[in-house]
Amino acid sequence: MAILELEHVSVSYDGQRHAVDDVSFSVEEGEIISLVGESGSGKSTLLHCMQGLLPKSAAARGKITLFGENMLELSEDRRRRMRGEQVAMIFQDTGRYMNPIARVGKQFTGYLKLHLDKSREELLELERQMLEKVHLYDVDRVLHSYPFELSGGMRQRVGIAIALSLHPRLLLADEPTSALDVTVQAQVVKELVQLCREEGATIILVTHNMGVAAHISDKIGVMQNGKLVEWGSARDVIRHPQEAYTKSLLSAIVELDDEQFLCR
Ligand SMILES: Nc1ncnc2c1ncn2[C@@H]1O[C@H](COP(=O)(O)OP(=O)(O)O)[C@@H](O)[C@H]1O
Ligand SMILES: [Mg+2]
Repeated sequence: MAILELEHVSVSYDGQRHAVDDVSFSVEEGEIISLVGESGSGKSTLLHCMQGLLPKSAAARGKITLFGENMLELSEDRRRRMRGEQVAMIFQDTGRYMNPIARVGKQFTGYLKLHLDKSREELLELERQMLEKVHLYDVDRVLHSYPFELSGGMRQRVGIAIALSLHPRLLLADEPTSALDVTVQAQVVKELVQLCREEGATIILVTHNMGVAAHISDKIGVMQNGKLVEWGSARDVIRHPQEAYTKSLLSAIVELDDEQFLCR
């Protein structure tokens, strides 16, 4: 069953040229989707409009149905209630979205309290469990740290732990590892996808790395100048790309064989 459906979605900022231009696709529950494309091709705009998070300067047309709700017409109140439990987001740089002068544990608790009616001890237990799930082992030290005391990789893992803590059905991840060392990137993405598979969560991952997309995805979408120029199963997109642009992205990665569909 489709949990998300976009029909002829276009978005423009300040009356300018379309940042997203007539995009349509649908996503089934449990799928791992990657959106690939160069900087400025409209990937972040697309993720933001899926959750109704566009700035006031943006105008969106078309229809976005998420869990049966029309996101472009939903009240802010309803949208806020959907966030966290149904849809959660991971950003490129979790540190930028955290309060620099509050300890990680306090911020984690603050997020959980918005949604859960549990005791302090129960919340702390959930925080510890989630941090262990993302392979942060000295969890009490992490909870007592300020964001700047953690490495970039640790902060992204905290961001993933927080985003997954309410078991969202859909996770939107906007270049969640592009601020990390290349060696850490693949590992963190692979763990993220494995966690989502265990939870049965659907994930839409924005990445400019076609290699990562090829490794982890069920489906790949390629964006160029606001248009979705390619959409299909990862296998089809990799083996039979329709667009010259997709071919150029693919030529940048090493030869693939079946073993490299790691998480599938
Ligand atoms: N808040 C904004 N105000 C005005 N223009 C924006 C805003 N955000 C993005 N854009 C423009 O929309 C286009 C798509 O941007 P974006 O969605 O951020 O692409 P991507 O995530 O693929 O890099 C770009 O031309 C960008 O300059
Ligand atoms: Mg972006």
